[in-house]
Amino acid sequence: MADSKAPARVAWTTRSAFILAATGSAVGLGNIWKFPYMAGANGGGAFVAVYLLCIIMVGLPIMTAEVMLGRRGGMSPISSMRKLARDSGVSSRWAWVGGLGALSGFLLLTFYTVIGGWVLFYIAKMASGSLQGATTVEAQQALSDLLGNPWMVLAGHTLFMVMTLWVVGRGIHKGIERSARVLMPILFVLLIVLFGYAMTSPGFGEAVRFLFSFDFSKISGSSVIAAVGHSFFTLSIGLGAIMAYGAYMPRETINPRTGKRTPVSIGSTVLLVGVLDTVVALVAGLVIFPVVFAHGLAPGEGPGLLFVTLPVALSDVLGGMWVGTAFFVLVLCAAWTSSISIAEPPVAWLTEKGISRPKASLMVGAAAWVVGLGTVFSFNLGSGYTLFGMNFFELLDFVSVNIMLPLGGFLIAIFAGWVLKETHARKELNMKSFGIYMVWRAMVRIFSPLALVLLVVFSLWKALAGEPVAAPEPELAPAIEQPALEQPEGEELPPPDVPAVDSVGELLPESE
Ligand code: TRP
Repeated sequence: MADSKAPARVAWTTRSAFILAATGSAVGLGNIWKFPYMAGANGGGAFVAVYLLCIIMVGLPIMTAEVMLGRRGGMSPISSMRKLARDSGVSSRWAWVGGLGALSGFLLLTFYTVIGGWVLFYIAKMASGSLQGATTVEAQQALSDLLGNPWMVLAGHTLFMVMTLWVVGRGIHKGIERSARVLMPILFVLLIVLFGYAMTSPGFGEAVRFLFSFDFSKISGSSVIAAVGHSFFTLSIGLGAIMAYGAYMPRETINPRTGKRTPVSIGSTVLLVGVLDTVVALVAGLVIFPVVFAHGLAPGEGPGLLFVTLPVALSDVLGGMWVGTAFFVLVLCAAWTSSISIAEPPVAWLTEKGISRPKASLMVGAAAWVVGLGTVFSFNLGSGYTLFGMNFFELLDFVSVNIMLPLGGFLIAIFAGWVLKETHARKELNMKSFGIYMVWRAMVRIFSPLALVLLVVFSLWKALAGEPVAAPEPELAPAIEQPALEQPEGEELPPPDVPAVDSVGELLPESE
């Protein structure tokens, strides 16, 4: 607005640039890697139903709040929060919310690039045909070989980190906006092509049933927690990434030919991004599960779903090598545009300290690379080191996704709903419908903060109780082999390593 002191703002060139960049941020590993395996492990349709509810009731209101705060603040999340707090006459310590976000983003970046690195290897594996004809055991072995080799994982992590910070370092227009304009269309085209392919698969009907038949008896406390946490992660909210992008969002667009000014509405833009994100997750599920089911494989494979089950499912179909390559290129586009947005808040903050963008990117990238070594090694050399039953990677994932993001989201909701002057919020959102505005307000004031407090409390409680948190690991071994059942000499002596003697005996009545 007419903020004479504020520095000239960088802005996206068009509204569509914001939409592409924000969708690029939202659509990531969360949609294509995490969502399908979480749905698989948490009962399919039951999880999807709760997840959709969370997107509508918690995700979209907070995303709206973030974009609103970002556009109003016009700076990095830390500085925007400080400015808005001052404008509202409260302590400028609210800047810490931005700081917490930048820190969570930094932590997220350290492991997001590691998984991004696996994706790079899988493009090569698929394109070279090395997984053609692989059995589940062989594909599992290929993944363990990759993860077990610290140098390979390190190489992927390094390359992905460089790719990310290189784009961020080039700036808003030449870097972030341009990458979104190139990568997002590729992503959508590949997704549509693969969806067409999946529809011809004999497993398609079963996949639809799996994802959309709501069996509410399957909903458990942990699937609800997983769904709330995931709705946060997938919309990129809670750490200021979307707030940072919101800061570059213009209030109106001017048609260069006619000179006509059109206000840019936050509500409808956010809705569009949320819908696109959700559609991509569901379609990704409809691409992955049909091939999985058509091969009689299990949906709840956990994190290995994408890297083990999918390659096996594609290993013997016609053109499977190309479908697989296309698929992992799609995952790369998604992951790349997301990691860019995760890195933006800390970089934006450093540039306000007078550091040039390329240099700030180098600093953030180098620091995240070093911390990321912990994740690199938690799959191999350091896999034995655990805390609360989690290795370094799992702990980082848990703390950032289940604790820090919801906490950030909670504070953002409280700030937008209770602290920021109502007139400011109302003016910035400029919603046409007063009813919708009131619904949004009720959500960020009461419903979303409550849901987030519950999420954090439950997650902590489960972690401390040593229970698996976000994605319950499914039982991988379908048939547990009975240990040495033959008893050559004397039936009276039970085999020493069989714990439940009675039940084993019952299982083998004929052995007498
Ligand atoms: N939304 C992305 C995904 O689904 C991840 C992501 C990007 C993110 N930016 C974020 C998550 C900011 C939390 C906060 O993979």
